[in-house]
Amino acid sequence: MTTRLSDKYLDLNSVKELPDSHAWESLDHDLPLDGACKLESVPIIDLNHKNAMELIGSACKTWGAFQVVNHNIAKNLLDDIESAGKRLFSLPMQQKLKAARSPDGLSGYGVARISSFFPKLMWSEGFTIFGSPLEHARRLWPEDYHRFCYTIQDYENEMNKLAERLMWLILGSLNITKEDINWAGSKGDQFQSGSSAVLQLNCYPACPDPDRAMGLAAHTDSTILTILHQSNTSGLQVFRQDYGWIRVPPQPGALVINVGDLLHILSNGCYPSVLHRAVVHRTQHRLSIAYLYGPPSSVKIFPIPKLVDNFHPPLYRAITWSEYLGTKAKHFDKALRLVLVRAPRSEFLGAK
Ligand code: OGA
Ligand code: NI
Repeated sequence: MTTRLSDKYLDLNSVKELPDSHAWESLDHDLPLDGACKLESVPIIDLNHKNAMELIGSACKTWGAFQVVNHNIAKNLLDDIESAGKRLFSLPMQQKLKAARSPDGLSGYGVARISSFFPKLMWSEGFTIFGSPLEHARRLWPEDYHRFCYTIQDYENEMNKLAERLMWLILGSLNITKEDINWAGSKGDQFQSGSSAVLQLNCYPACPDPDRAMGLAAHTDSTILTILHQSNTSGLQVFRQDYGWIRVPPQPGALVINVGDLLHILSNGCYPSVLHRAVVHRTQHRLSIAYLYGPPSSVKIFPIPKLVDNFHPPLYRAITWSEYLGTKAKHFDKALRLVLVRAPRSEFLGAK
């Protein structure tokens, strides 16, 4: 199906009726499935709790997601990044398009990058930051772009520290220490200094027909982990096998952590990446800021040797973040399977 350019850059804030280009069929928005009523949502973990590491490990195994509190990210920084996002998305469409993402680029304003895999458009707009936001910010606010850049920089610095802390807590729950990590011939420290990240601002305007619209279609993140700050309107859902879609309600001051595909590979499938999506609301708009955390782009990622033995052979081959992003951009939800070297044991048994 082809999408007209005018549909792609439709100003969703001014639309009174859901256009065909954005009307999804057969959406299973009715949640949760039978039996899931008792299931609440992802755990909320206090990072100061003495058992934080174990709680995190268990959340990664069963949910692939959790919320954290006492994370040491200042409230005014969270407020500032939210205001920066609001300020950006409330610019006139013509102004936002001055910072449009180029067809083969990663940074800039536009529809969700996964849109090309779906016949319908999503009820959201996004702004992706990889590297310096200066060029784009200058086009958006020729007179006043510094404020935006400073906020982004502060936010990224703080998120980087939190992401590293969380990564070592998660790996620690698998009994992995920095000594066990030998990526590209270097110890864990090198990884820390060279980690890279993408910041994704998402805006979900209020929608005249939310039951037939999709904010952001189901996907897993191509990261080690993702830290999501969501504004005070619910919309995020995670998928649980046997239960269906479960809401992750905004919790004031808490941040949502998702297990990404690279952690899935590193943990040899112990901590599977989580399928998640965002739905939209009839009267409330929603903003989210995702910090997509990954390794230096050329470091090879593979199952950590300590997690591998005769009974647990490596399931995935070595791949760099940039190779994986290329595979994902081409094959989307089949990407992780394409990195498999062998089917998990249960599949062998099931195939008999
Ligand atoms: C993402 C994402 C969810 C949300 O940006 O990868 O999953 O609630 N966002 O906006
Ligand atoms: Ni995501």
